This record gives sequence, structure tokens and C-alpha cells, in this order.
Amino acid sequence: MKLFLAPIQAMTAACYRNAFAKHFGGIDAYYAPFIAASDIKKVSHKLLKDILPERNDKSVNLVPQLLGNDGDQFKAYAYAISEMGYQEINWNIGCPFPMVTNKKRGSGILPYPDIINKFLETACSGSTYTISVKMRLGLNDTEDGIRVMNILNQYPLSGVIIHARTGKQMYEGKVDLDAFCTLSTECKHEVTYNGDIFTHNDFLSISSRVPHLKNFMLGRGALSDPFLPSSIKGHDVQSTDKVKIVHKFHDEIFEYYKNTLSGDKHLCDKMKEFWDFMHIHLDQDGKLMKKIKKCNRTSDYLEIVSKAFHSDAIWKDS
Ligand SMILES: Cc1cc2nc3c(=O)[nH]c(=O)nc-3n(C[C@H](O)[C@H](O)[C@H](O)COP(=O)(O)O)c2cc1C
Repeated sequence: MKLFLAPIQAMTAACYRNAFAKHFGGIDAYYAPFIAASDIKKVSHKLLKDILPERNDKSVNLVPQLLGNDGDQFKAYAYAISEMGYQEINWNIGCPFPMVTNKKRGSGILPYPDIINKFLETACSGSTYTISVKMRLGLNDTEDGIRVMNILNQYPLSGVIIHARTGKQMYEGKVDLDAFCTLSTECKHEVTYNGDIFTHNDFLSISSRVPHLKNFMLGRGALSDPFLPSSIKGHDVQSTDKVKIVHKFHDEIFEYYKNTLSGDKHLCDKMKEFWDFMHIHLDQDGKLMKKIKKCNRTSDYLEIVSKAFHSDAIWKDS
């Protein structure tokens, strides 16, 4: 069985992935948040900063991701990325945000199998990389996904990751396991399941519905309980050690952003994003997150956080 860390824009950047691999592990490949492929004439190397090999520890198996609907643009970026040493490049056709979908990008492309076909005809003609796809069940309904899969089946993809929701659902409502099963059965490529694995029990109940599947991708569940991937693989960490490990993980990420962001406000805002996920197993009464949200000065932030990690702090196992 393989477990992948889902890309979460603004969270799972290089510093986060490196620290995650060092302190928690359990992940076979880390998918980087999307890079929006734009001007074909001039690949913006600024956009590729996060995936620079010198920023990413060698132990982290990284898969860069591109967002776009133009095969030539994709190809130009994919060549530049493969020159950096990456073999697999993931194509994002799952992003649900209207700013993206209105331009027929992300899950906004799913109702248009012809555009997908044209895109893949060009994008797959590149010889230095392979393409995997991260998709949803459809944009508005799951019929989209079936039509798209018939196209994906015609190309030599290295895998298809399916987030078991439609784009219209955003991140709300339940994952649709029946629709996932139907779509994954149609798929000739290696399929990865993605969506709402927050606990070990979630993993067990979802994987029992799809016993043939070997690949699972975890996003928010792994960000709020970074011990989850290892635990799914059978390596449990003593509850009493968990707070100490998360403390070290936090400090590494805090140090990175302290050295790269300017001003207390930016730093505190960045760390609020971190705590949006991380508070779930540490915040016994909801007060911690409230305090962090109010924080705009680094000194206040550090005081609150040092209390959160005090020696009696308890990690609430799920
Ligand atoms: C804040 C946020 C940012 C995300 N950014 C990306 C992204 O850059 N690329 C992508 O393919 N998916 C992105 N996703 C979707 C996740 O990768 C994943 O598919 C989704 O959260 C469902 O998995 P989960 O229930 O395990 O979190 C994002 C999700 C969230 C909540």
C-alpha cells in the first residue's frame, strides 16, 4: 500500500514537506501545490522556486503539480520541471474555486472532454516526463467524470488520483464512494483514492469499500494528525511523545517563516494557517485557537504556543 500527501496550497510548501518527512514520515510521495502554467514563451522560474531540488530534501519523493488547460503551456513548464530532475508531473483538474473553474481550468475543465483530449494530445507528446492526473468526480455531476475517464484511458498516464467529490461540492458534504467505485472501475490507469481520511477508522472503512485499491492520498487528515499516515502503516507513536514531536515540527516551520517573511503580522498570519489544522488534536477546549487567531505580535504568539506545548499538554488521539 502507498500513501501520498495531498497538495494543500500555502501549507505543504517545501519547508513543511521536509519537516513532515523528518518528524512523521509514512508518506511515499508528496504532491506539491499547483503551479499555474502561464506564458509559454517564458517559463517563470520564480513560480518553480518551491520545487527547486536544493529546497527539497532528497528523502522527500516530490511530485510537482501544474494547473492549466493549454497543452503547449503545460509542455513548456513540464520540460523545465523535468530538467530539474522530476519524472512525474501531476495535472490538476480538480481545483474547485470559481476563479479557476470559470476559466475552464481545474475541475472547470471536466465538462469538456474535447478540451481535455486536445490538451493531452499535446502535453503527452513531451518525451522527458510522465503525466499523472488529479481529478474530481465531475464539475456539477458525476457523469462528467465518466466521459473524462474515457479520454484519460487513451493516453499513457502514470496514474489518476480521484478526490471523491464533485467540484460543485467544494470541500463540503460527503465523499461519494459509490461514484468513486464506478469511476475507478472505468479507469485503466493506477488509481489513487482521495477524500476525507481523517482517522485510522476512516481509512479502514473507506479501504474496505475499495479492497482492490493500493494507493491513498491524505490531505487535511494528515495535516491535523501528522501521525496518521505512519499509524495507517502500522507504526504507532506513544501518545506521550506526540506533543514533543509536534513541538519540534512546529519550531522548524516557525523558524523557516521567521527568516523568510517580513513583519510580525505576516508571520502570525502564516502560523494561524498552520494551527487551523494542527489545533484539532491539541486544543482541548477551543481556547487555544481563539487566542492564536487574535495574535498579531510574534512575542504574544510565542507565549501562547509555549503554553500549548507545556509538559502536561495532551495529544487527543482520534
Ligand atoms: C486549502 C486547500 C488547498 C488545496 N490546494 C490544492 C492544490 O494546490 N492542488 C490540489 O490538487 N489540491 C489542492 N487541494 C485539495 C487537496 O489536495 C485534497 O484533494 C482535498 O483536500 C481532499 O482530500 P482530504 O479530504 O484528504 O483533505 C487543496 C485543499 C485545501 C483545503
